[in-house]
Amino acid sequence: MFIIFLGPPGAGKGTQAGLLAEKLKVPHISTGDLFRDEMKRGTQLGKQITYLMNSGQLVSDKITMEVFRQRLAQPDCARGAILDGIPRTIVQAQVLDIMFKSQGKKLDHVVYIELPPEEIIVRLSGRWTCRQCGRVYHEKYDPPKETGVCNLDGGQLYQREDQKEEAIKERVKVYEELTAPLIRHYQNKGLLLTISGHRSIEEVKADIFEKLQLPA
Ligand code: AP5
Repeated sequence: MFIIFLGPPGAGKGTQAGLLAEKLKVPHISTGDLFRDEMKRGTQLGKQITYLMNSGQLVSDKITMEVFRQRLAQPDCARGAILDGIPRTIVQAQVLDIMFKSQGKKLDHVVYIELPPEEIIVRLSGRWTCRQCGRVYHEKYDPPKETGVCNLDGGQLYQREDQKEEAIKERVKVYEELTAPLIRHYQNKGLLLTISGHRSIEEVKADIFEKLQLPA
C-alpha cells in the first residue's frame, strides 16, 4: 500500500506516518528526514540544502525527486511505503505519478491532516527530536520519561533549526502557496481522506486507522 501524508508544518504527519508504517510493516519515507540525514553526514548535497532547510524554504523539485527516486528504488519499498512530506508541489505530484506508472505502482490514499494555524506554533515550538533515532516528542503532549533523553535509545533530544519563529512563518507561507493546492489535486482524483489533527495523538491515529479500515 502506498499512502501520502499531507498537511501543514506540525500537523503530525511524521508522528502518524510512523505509527501507520509500523502497523502496515512498510517503510516510512520522510523527505525531511532524508535531507536532515544528508546535512548530518556533511555530504555535498547536505551543505547545498542547509540554508534552504533552516530558513523554511523548499529544496528544488529536481533534487527532491532524485533523492526520493533513489529511496523508492530500495527493495524494502516493493510492497508499499508511507510518504511523509512528499509531494509538496504540483510538479512533484506529477513526477511522482509518472514514476509510479513506470514502476507499476499505485497510490492508494492521501491522508490530509488539518490543523488550525494558531496550533502550528504550539506544536512546533514544543517539539524535541532524538539525535540518534529521530523519534519525535512534544514537551507537553507527548513528553519523554526523562527530560532531554529519548525513551527508546537514551539519545539526546534537540530542537530543529527550522523551529525558530521566522523559519516557521516561512514554512507556513510556503505551505499555503505551494503545497495546499495539492489538497484539491488529490480530492479531484478521489484519493483524499481528511482528518482533524486537533485531537490527541491516539485519537488522530484511531480516526486514520478507521478511515483506512484497519483494525486498531
Ligand atoms: P519536514 O521535515 O517534512 O517538515 P514539515 O512538513 O514542515 O513537517 P514537520 O516535520 O515540521 O511536522 P509534522 O507534520 O511531521 O509534525 P510532527 O509529527 O513532527 O520538512 C522540513 C524541510 O525539508 C522543509 O521545510 C523543506 O526545506 C525540506 N523538504 C522536505 N520535503 C520536501 C519536499 N518534498 N520538497 C522540497 N523540500 C522538502 O509533530 C509536531 C509536534 O507535535 C511534535 O512535537 C509531536 O510530538 C506533536 N504532535 C503530533 N501530533 C500531535 C497531536 N495529535 N496532539 C498533540 N501533539 C502532537
